[in-house]
Amino acid sequence: MTTILGIDIGGTGIKGAPVDLERGELSEDRLRIPTPEGGSPGDVARVVAEVAAHFDVDGPIGCTFPAVIRRGVALTAANVDNAWIGNDAQALFTGETGRPVTVVNDADAAGLAEMQYGAGKGRSGTVVMLTLGTGIGSAVFTDGRLVPNTEFGHLDIRGKAAERRASEKAREDHDLSWERWAQRLNEVLTHLEALLWPDLFVVGGGVSKKHDQFLHLLETRAEVVPAQLLNQAGIVGAALAARGRA
Ligand code: BGC
Repeated sequence: MTTILGIDIGGTGIKGAPVDLERGELSEDRLRIPTPEGGSPGDVARVVAEVAAHFDVDGPIGCTFPAVIRRGVALTAANVDNAWIGNDAQALFTGETGRPVTVVNDADAAGLAEMQYGAGKGRSGTVVMLTLGTGIGSAVFTDGRLVPNTEFGHLDIRGKAAERRASEKAREDHDLSWERWAQRLNEVLTHLEALLWPDLFVVGGGVSKKHDQFLHLLETRAEVVPAQLLNQAGIVGAALAARGRA
């Protein structure tokens, strides 16, 4: 059995657990520590090390981060501290934990997990995964292969970023009915369909557990299915991303 520690860094919590990669499941209860106020690189790295030390699993670690990540370096900071821009998160976490860490974008990680074990399993063609949470994250797969760092949450929709209109946070902040919010989400999906012509949309993120409230309101050419791994997708995908280093 290959077990790798996966850590999912979000705006409010840093969650980790060992992942059984044969089954795509957590092999122990996850540990969640609130993201330190301000979310500075040094403070986040200390929590990552604390999560790593909590579990009796050694070897490489996979870690998600909610920004564009190229070769371990964060290049954007839409919902995180600006100090992350240009920061080599991978080197920072490797130094702090003393273990090889692989860092990937959070939505890419969730997509990897869904393609391997969940809603996208066995699906060929173009699959677009969207994670609807504080922002909107995206992951695109062509015949199962990830095209990393797509940022469809920042697609401009009538002068405003898609994630400001149609994230789960936007729904809550503006107290939108499911119908109103689904209308906004439809606008985003229609844009994406015009650009990518996907075969399948996988809708993930916190709101995906309430999919029966809104999935039937979505009007797309492509099939839309809810994510299956729910709040474990990031942790599982992080571990998958680190698998090559085991
Ligand atoms: C970030 C993405 C991230 C998404 C979900 C966006 O604001 O730009 O990199 O995947 O939020 O966390």
